[in-house]
Amino acid sequence: MSHTAIARPDGSHLKEPITASTRGGTQSFQTVRRNPLALDATVATDSSNSLNQLLADTITLRDLYKKHHWQTSGPTFYMLHLLFDKHAEEQSALVDTVAERIQTLGGVSIAMAADVAEATMIPRPPKDREDAATQIERLLHAHEVILLETRAMARATATSGDLGTNDLLVSDVLRLNELQVWFLVEHVRAIEV
Ligand SMILES: [Fe+2]
Repeated sequence: MSHTAIARPDGSHLKEPITASTRGGTQSFQTVRRNPLALDATVATDSSNSLNQLLADTITLRDLYKKHHWQTSGPTFYMLHLLFDKHAEEQSALVDTVAERIQTLGGVSIAMAADVAEATMIPRPPKDREDAATQIERLLHAHEVILLETRAMARATATSGDLGTNDLLVSDVLRLNELQVWFLVEHVRAIEV
């Protein structure tokens, strides 16, 4: 970002709040503590790792909705501005549900933007504005990435016996994403007419 009022030279004027990255750590990422859930440790580990992928993608989709909420334009501006924000809020609630399921299983939830960017399977959009049809196309692709992995995880958890995660995947993640796809697709059809 060039020519901003905020200089960002070398950060030498800033004090790091905590110097050693290991200080204060209580649990490493990708490790799973054994919680008394009557669930096999390897099952909890597999579910936790899969849910972290889903969490990274859900955070990315939420942010994509916010980007498009702010940047949409054209004759459908108001309609899409509101719709994208509604979907972002619903995805945001899902982010919390998935993250807390990971913690319930004894895992460590992915959280910060840089880590999410590394992990997500959703392609990075440009910083530029895009037209409404392209925005919707991009969102539909992101939903399909999530739907594909959600169904795979739902099948895996049904087999492994992690029914709590299975219920969350089907009842919360799958249903919401399918519903949001419907709303997007109908807007594309309205635009095409
Ligand atoms: Fe807003």
